Amino acid sequence: MNQISPEIAGMQRNIDNIEIRPLAAALGAELRGVNVAAGVNDTQMAAVLDALHTHGVIVLRDQHLTPQEQVAFCKRLGPMRVSFMTEVSVPDAPELTIVSNIVKDGKPIGLVDAGALWHTDGSYLPQPDMYTVLHAIQIPQRDNVALGDTCFMSTAAVYENLPADIREKIHNAQGVHSLSYHIQRKIEGNFKAPPAKDTKPDVLHPAVIEHPVTKRKGIYLTEGHTKAIHGLPDDESRQLLDNIASFATQTKFLYRHKWREGDLLIWDNIGTQHLAITDYGNMPRRLHRAGISSPFNIFMQH
Ligand code: SIN
Repeated sequence: MNQISPEIAGMQRNIDNIEIRPLAAALGAELRGVNVAAGVNDTQMAAVLDALHTHGVIVLRDQHLTPQEQVAFCKRLGPMRVSFMTEVSVPDAPELTIVSNIVKDGKPIGLVDAGALWHTDGSYLPQPDMYTVLHAIQIPQRDNVALGDTCFMSTAAVYENLPADIREKIHNAQGVHSLSYHIQRKIEGNFKAPPAKDTKPDVLHPAVIEHPVTKRKGIYLTEGHTKAIHGLPDDESRQLLDNIASFATQTKFLYRHKWREGDLLIWDNIGTQHLAITDYGNMPRRLHRAGISSPFNIFMQH
């Protein structure tokens, strides 16, 4: 999945001393030359945003940040969403959610198996997140190889390559996004789900969204949260969603991120979907996640 052709590798660009190195054919790039703790000027911030929209997911390596430094950086991207799951927020930084399998005093300190099904962050909410910023604090390793990779999919590459009859069926449709459906899928898959009290009413979103910056159309239907296509008979809806989900996970549409401690990974939730690989058992893994609301009017008013 991380294989990159010589043509893609040759696309490396330099903007204002920031080096941008694509990581896979469909999406993903590493940015070098940005030190978040030292401060990011407006020109650098514009380059970060440009790379984010162009590549969907970008990594800034070796960013050893305090929660407050992560929050200050995230606020430059837009308004931060404070999660309703307050029991797993970072102490003294309510804007950050702990993603972790670590148990303290008999209780998980964070969300366990948070990304174990393909999804895009907050799609079960009326106003989902536009961007996510995930900071790697503790990454498990076996034989010096990092575990717990996160895979990303380009929603535009998938849409552009879908068979015409499927594109036709979804281009004016709406997906039903559901946290309770997500919890049910997690339980069926033997993953840890967020507590059932965290359910929210189902919401409708367009099945296809035109990205407000790149203007590329992409799928906005996910394995993890889309319960149905609104208005279609159940079996037809399920069949269509399953077909799209299996089409979308072809290697050519993906980038697989291998984590290092200190990685600051930023992704665009309209341009991408993601899936976390839970291959680390009880080996401790901890990341701090921030959700940034959309500065664009993309979603329906509920
Ligand atoms: C998430 O989906 O929010 C978490 C991703 C991860 O744990 O790698």
